[in-house]
Amino acid sequence: MSALEEARRRTLALVASVSDTDLERVHSPLMSPLAWDLAHIAAYEDLWLVHRYGERPLLREDLAATYDAFETPRAVRGDIELLDPGQAREYLSEVRARALEVIDERGVGDGTLHEMVLRHEHQHDETMLQTLQLARLERYELADRRPDPKSPRPSFTGLEMVEISAGPCTIGADDHGFAYDNERPRHRTDMPSYLIGQTPVTNATYLSFVRGGGYQRRDWWSREGWAWKTEHDVTRPADWTADLTAEWRLGKLEQLHPDRPVIHVSWFEADAFARAHDARLPTEAEWEKAATWDQAGGKARRYPWGTRRPVPGLHANLDHRGGGTVPAGAYPAGASPYGCLGMIGDVWEWTTTGFDGYPGFAPHPYREYSEVFFGSEHRVLRGGSWATRTRVTTPTFRNWDYPQRRQLFAGIRIVRDR
Ligand SMILES: [Fe+2]
Repeated sequence: MSALEEARRRTLALVASVSDTDLERVHSPLMSPLAWDLAHIAAYEDLWLVHRYGERPLLREDLAATYDAFETPRAVRGDIELLDPGQAREYLSEVRARALEVIDERGVGDGTLHEMVLRHEHQHDETMLQTLQLARLERYELADRRPDPKSPRPSFTGLEMVEISAGPCTIGADDHGFAYDNERPRHRTDMPSYLIGQTPVTNATYLSFVRGGGYQRRDWWSREGWAWKTEHDVTRPADWTADLTAEWRLGKLEQLHPDRPVIHVSWFEADAFARAHDARLPTEAEWEKAATWDQAGGKARRYPWGTRRPVPGLHANLDHRGGGTVPAGAYPAGASPYGCLGMIGDVWEWTTTGFDGYPGFAPHPYREYSEVFFGSEHRVLRGGSWATRTRVTTPTFRNWDYPQRRQLFAGIRIVRDR
């Protein structure tokens, strides 16, 4: 099966158990109707593979603006006329037939646009899972579900620390293969030694923070974080029940698992948790060094464990087949050279770093991919989540969002200065 075909199967499988009404509904003001995502995947493929690369006219010029993420921002996607779910599926399949004709005729060229379109579809799978998580659809069934691994013994808390030695390292993607513009150029940096959490912070540890007055102690919060928490009356992670015993995992309410990483916390909550533990969140560079730097070899590894592509269930919790997080540290084969676990997959990890270009940044292939988002209002997240597809998860990939956002599958890893 080709990679494009596999991507499409997974996209369609994600929404197979969702009714048309729920595909058309706005489940959260932060998210698009799922039917918009479907047609947007088609429009993006038509624009980049068929039109720009294949030099053919767009299949549906009349839909281009509606399904362009900039021309039709999320806030209005629920108020305008959209293709219904059946029409969106048809649009996907017609565009795909045209894209395959182009590939038949011209091959994939240097592969960049083909890879970009493929990854775009993978990334929208995660976006759609965020919507499905927020929707809490009782009848939702995830296709091809995989059983959860057992908790490691002894279990981790997120407070076990690993020492990262002082010295230089490289940050960012090298010049080979596909990477997004904001991951390049690779550059050297130097930093003093620090301690970083061996795993993300678990539910049990976060529960102690909540019970220990985590949301009441002003001194643990930044000024902006306290204002946000107070205004929205935030007292716990977004998907925990008020009695702190259970959490929503897609459509199901499950007992809070003590060993799983805490998830659906904002940057403000992550920051407060860290302060309460006499720690802080990592910078992006600290995170990446802990994930990839091989001190003995004097170079960055492609993945924490080496060069092999992630195998879900061996190295990391990826590809959204488990339907949620797994116990922290469940995959020892995914350890980085420094011994950090779970750097890839499971939960995105908030960093203190704003989103900006690396020195020598050049936009590619269009400014709207990342440059228009640069600035200190966003925070970068690293590592991917259980809902990220394997192909798009690398330790140089940079995600970004506002510090108050909780729709992401985001958790916490802490750092302490030596
Ligand atoms: Fe998109």
